[in-house]
Amino acid sequence: MAYIEQHSAGLSAPVKVGLIGSGWMGAFHAESIARRVPGAVLAAIADPNVESAQALAQSLGTAKVTADAADILADPEIDAVVIASPARFHSALITQAAAAGKHVFCEKPAGQGLDELDAALAAVEKAGVHFQIGFNRRYADDFQAAKKDLAAGIAGQPQLLRSLTRDPGNGSIPNAARVPAWTVFLETLIHDFDTLNWFNEGAEPVEVYAVADALVEPKLRDQGFLDTAVVTIRYSNGAIAVAEANFSALYGYDIRGEVFGSKGMVQAGRATETAARRYTAEGLSADTPRLNVELFRQAYTDELADFAATVRAQRDGTPPPSGAFTLTPGAADARRALAMALACIESVKQGGPVAVAAAPVALRDDARAGV
Ligand SMILES: NC(=O)c1ccc[n+]([C@@H]2O[C@H](COP(=O)([O-])OP(=O)(O)OC[C@H]3O[C@@H](n4cnc5c(N)ncnc54)[C@H](O)[C@@H]3O)[C@@H](O)[C@H]2O)c1
Repeated sequence: MAYIEQHSAGLSAPVKVGLIGSGWMGAFHAESIARRVPGAVLAAIADPNVESAQALAQSLGTAKVTADAADILADPEIDAVVIASPARFHSALITQAAAAGKHVFCEKPAGQGLDELDAALAAVEKAGVHFQIGFNRRYADDFQAAKKDLAAGIAGQPQLLRSLTRDPGNGSIPNAARVPAWTVFLETLIHDFDTLNWFNEGAEPVEVYAVADALVEPKLRDQGFLDTAVVTIRYSNGAIAVAEANFSALYGYDIRGEVFGSKGMVQAGRATETAARRYTAEGLSADTPRLNVELFRQAYTDELADFAATVRAQRDGTPPPSGAFTLTPGAADARRALAMALACIESVKQGGPVAVAAAPVALRDDARAGV
């Protein structure tokens, strides 16, 4: 299908990005690229729901809209794609985008199985394009501050790690019946797995033991719906981690990470929306973050700014952005976290601990080099 032209204004910014999937997350990424990310322009949007894509494009001044991602991949003007379609399409879209020579930013998970993801990552490697996965927590100020401390050895040898996700809710999940199976591991806890891996850098996740249930929507338990989970993870350096998730925290969006080690403890996670506090006759209170796009507004912007800067550097032959610690989540990180999520699914099915599939050697080396 051909593009539907929105307007003919020329776009001059250096990295021309095509968005694939413009729903909840894609629309926010679109706005970030169009308005907040330096050195990038939103050149096109692809979504089978073309009417809503057109409305978004018009509001952002984006020139091209199509129902078919293939139009973006065939467009020689597009340098890079941001994939924010449903997860079941991710691996195939990464493969096709890489084959078309496009740099790829993909929302998590990068795939739903290791075979399809390995094929996609092989296509990325073969094409020599830049690949980044949407593990946005790494870009939050407090998580970066914690990572900086960990890289400096403040906590010493990691012994216990903790990461949690509590999604905002009102005590019920209205669209629960439409939530794909195993979402709690593949799309929610996968963020926590990356946080733990990043905080425990240099160690590989060896084994997981997952316990999960439908505690918010117990009537959907028999259909296999899961809204609550706790995972114990053993790492190759001996550290033991716990990741937990729940889909309905009445007080808002609650994300935390922690490393306890031989020399001390480092924590990340912002409990209140701002530093303001109310002291009244009833006591002390504060506002809490309510949505992911509030808590992680800056992080979502910065991850795309990092992506655009790295793509520009690769294209221009200049050094990529660098800092005091590993930041950009890439192929090895996407693969490692997905292997943990898949092992959790097996663990729930079997009712016991399950080994995490080891990454191919090339990806392990990749991770050690901090790529
Ligand atoms: N990083 C985060 O914090 C975060 C938060 C929310 C969602 N996500 C991820 O973003 C992805 C999208 O989630 P969402 O909540 O925006 O879902 P959504 O359902 O709101 O949006 C998905 C969009 O993709 C479109 N689509 C369907 N098939 C497509 C295809 N083949 N090509 C292009 N577009 C297609 C749909 O029409 C829809 O507009 C998921 O992988 C999800 O895990 C990440």
